[in-house]
Amino acid sequence: MNNQLDLFDSIEIGDYTLANRIVMAPMTRNRAGEGNVQGALNVTYYQQRASAGLIITEGSQISPQAVGYPATAGIHSAAQVEGWKAVTAAVHDKGGHIFLQLWHVGRVSHPSLQPEGLLPVAPSAIKPAGDAFTYDGLQAFVKPHALTTDELPGIIADYVNAARKAMQAGFDGVEIHSANGYLLDQFIRDGSNQRDDGYGGSIDKRTRLLREVVEAVCNAIGSNKVGVRISPENSFNSMHDSDAQNTFNAVTDMLNGFHLAYLHVLEGDMLTGQRVLDYSQLKDRFVGPYMANCRYDFERATQAIKNGDADLVSFGLPFISNPDLVERFRTGAELSTADPASFYGGNEKGYTDYPFL
Ligand code: PHB
Repeated sequence: MNNQLDLFDSIEIGDYTLANRIVMAPMTRNRAGEGNVQGALNVTYYQQRASAGLIITEGSQISPQAVGYPATAGIHSAAQVEGWKAVTAAVHDKGGHIFLQLWHVGRVSHPSLQPEGLLPVAPSAIKPAGDAFTYDGLQAFVKPHALTTDELPGIIADYVNAARKAMQAGFDGVEIHSANGYLLDQFIRDGSNQRDDGYGGSIDKRTRLLREVVEAVCNAIGSNKVGVRISPENSFNSMHDSDAQNTFNAVTDMLNGFHLAYLHVLEGDMLTGQRVLDYSQLKDRFVGPYMANCRYDFERATQAIKNGDADLVSFGLPFISNPDLVERFRTGAELSTADPASFYGGNEKGYTDYPFL
């Protein structure tokens, strides 16, 4: 059915009316300053992109343990809150909306990044393949510490603390990062979770940590300010689930208990673009706004909105090199292409120097 909607129609997310359905996807850019604090350069970057219906920030560590990469932002210290305040004010000045992404990387880290050089933590002591990005270059991943049952309430408390700090920093809400092979996703998928306590085994038990985090964060700041991101078949970070469709149908059913601001789904495999699952099963189950992501262009996104396959679409790469992506979509202007050499780390080059129309 053609319901006549397009990307430029406004939409209600929680208590907010977004100006359009074009969302800036969360992207790690490794340009935080000392103490994982956002500075003037980051303020400019986000303000340039404020015409997006919604900006979702780069993943931001909920605690010192949650860090997995150099120069990524945090949301657990007072200085980090102050840094983010300037970002949210700049985006709001331009009439935009901005959610902060709450991030715990779990096993995708390295002792050299961890407090006191401790092991990274995970549901089970299973090492991902490959290398960690550290301040001393690439270093092999290590076998992580399997979290004990009694360590989990502390992690939930870290999510709550970070969500509260995000609201102090002026964000419109938070996105709980439960995708891409980071901690919450490591619990959900059975390739990385081999626990035999109440947080492993059945789908219900593997999704329990996400449920408890979502419940605690919703209680702290209000469910209408909370979104969740999942990536059912993304293989990034050595991830696999033996029954992804059923697992993530169950995740979606579970999330329906909370009346979230939105569900954000990275559809397919971010690395290969392969897409096997039937995402309409997630879209049809979810009672709130469904945000689609992964390699969408203007045409596919428009079609997805028209067909009712998505309520919003988030764009990553196009927003790196087109701060005025919304205007370019509206006018059919050519898009500039992003330079991969400047994706991660560095200065204003490849960050805030992409041209407006
Ligand atoms: C990345 O740095 O490539 C990255 C970080 C976080 C994600 C996905 C990708 O969720």
